[in-house]
Amino acid sequence: MHNVLITGGAGFIGQNLVHAWRQLRGQDRLVVLDAVTYAANLRSLEPLIADGRIMFVRGDVRDAALTGGLFETHRFSRVLHLAAESHVDRSIVDPEAFLQTNVLGTFTLLKTALDAWQAWDTIAQARFLHVSTDEVYGSLGPADPAFTEASPYRPNSPYAASKAASDHLVRSFVATYAMPALITNCSNNYGPYQHPEKLIPLMIIHALQGRPLPIYGDGSNVRDWLHVSDHCRALMAVIERGQCGETYNIGGGNERNNRDVVGLICDILDSAFAADGTLRARFLTCPAAAGQSCRTLISHVTDRPGHDHRYAIDAGKLARDVGERCSIGFEAGLDETVRWYLAQEGWWREVTSGAYRIWLDQNYGFRLAV
Ligand code: NAD
Ligand code: DAU
Repeated sequence: MHNVLITGGAGFIGQNLVHAWRQLRGQDRLVVLDAVTYAANLRSLEPLIADGRIMFVRGDVRDAALTGGLFETHRFSRVLHLAAESHVDRSIVDPEAFLQTNVLGTFTLLKTALDAWQAWDTIAQARFLHVSTDEVYGSLGPADPAFTEASPYRPNSPYAASKAASDHLVRSFVATYAMPALITNCSNNYGPYQHPEKLIPLMIIHALQGRPLPIYGDGSNVRDWLHVSDHCRALMAVIERGQCGETYNIGGGNERNNRDVVGLICDILDSAFAADGTLRARFLTCPAAAGQSCRTLISHVTDRPGHDHRYAIDAGKLARDVGERCSIGFEAGLDETVRWYLAQEGWWREVTSGAYRIWLDQNYGFRLAV
């Protein structure tokens, strides 16, 4: 039985991880620490908070007094650190928050955990999992081999640079203080509860609303899509069966370019609308409601500056050393995800109100159709 701290547990991956942990490790006590930024959503956690299955603390990972107090009260033996600013486009418009949370926040949490575990003399039993990204490795050419744990760090966006810096801090704590830490670098996640500013939910929701589907540049950029439930299972395996001081890459083995991803979303929506009259009545603004393809909404817009061309993960070490393999195929996972957004209209309508609209203006206002 462990007392577990999950930071960023109200974000996309965090919410999925909290639910997975609650289902699979019922005996552990879970505390979620999250600053509840624009990216957070507490709706799915509310029932768990209400009946005491998790404890939720609203707070900033940079707040050493708060994190120290939480360690004193709960005597954590497991930390999964997910709190971060995570959106590349936002890091281009306003990088400072990324340095604050991703670098200083990670440092504060590392130091708090190390001090506590040293003081209690429990470092040998404790584990700190730092959740990071494949973006630290930079961009691959079309024929390059996939990223391994030995690939050099070449971050290209302020987001990726801030995550790279946080990885280096973790590594330095392992080497210098024998911190019992592990790092995971994963590829693009998708699935339930993803914020609608990221590619897949954005395209689904825009299509339902009959708005343009803005593909950056020519849409040839490739991502390696990982279903969030596969990712969460892998994180739970790494923190228990991984080796302290090691890094593990987690990927879905699903390389797709953005044009194909958006086309597939359109095809799934077209078929769903053709088969279900209630969808046609609910989403009158979607072209599929009038028997047209959602593909008619596809538009190519100005590219992201410094846009990485391709990410691909070699997840061989995860399979060999931890015995974990991601198994959800992209077509099936995407179909299920599109249907989740169709069923959860209330959730995304709430998220896409207010502050989200201001962000949309900031990010898309200047982009010209090309
Ligand atoms: P997200 O943006 O959906 O959620 C981040 C969460 O962190 C939010 O709930 C937010 O409120 C919280 N947070 C932000 N600043 C904080 C602070 N200072 N103190 C406490 N909480 C704070 O992100 P996500 O997509 O769920 O990603 C989770 C982690 O996984 C991040 O570290 C990200 O870098 C990494 N990652 C994500 C992906 C992906 O495809 N989503 C892929 C690779 C790695
Ligand atoms: O690779 C892991 C990373 O994946 C994570 O570390 C990040 O936290 C996560 O946000 C994600 O980063 P990306 O930049 O790859 O994700 P995003 O959903 O923003 O974009 C995916 C691809 O789609 C990318 O090539 C840019 C493109 N895109 C994105 C948006 C939002 C578009 O063409 N149009 C869009 O409107």
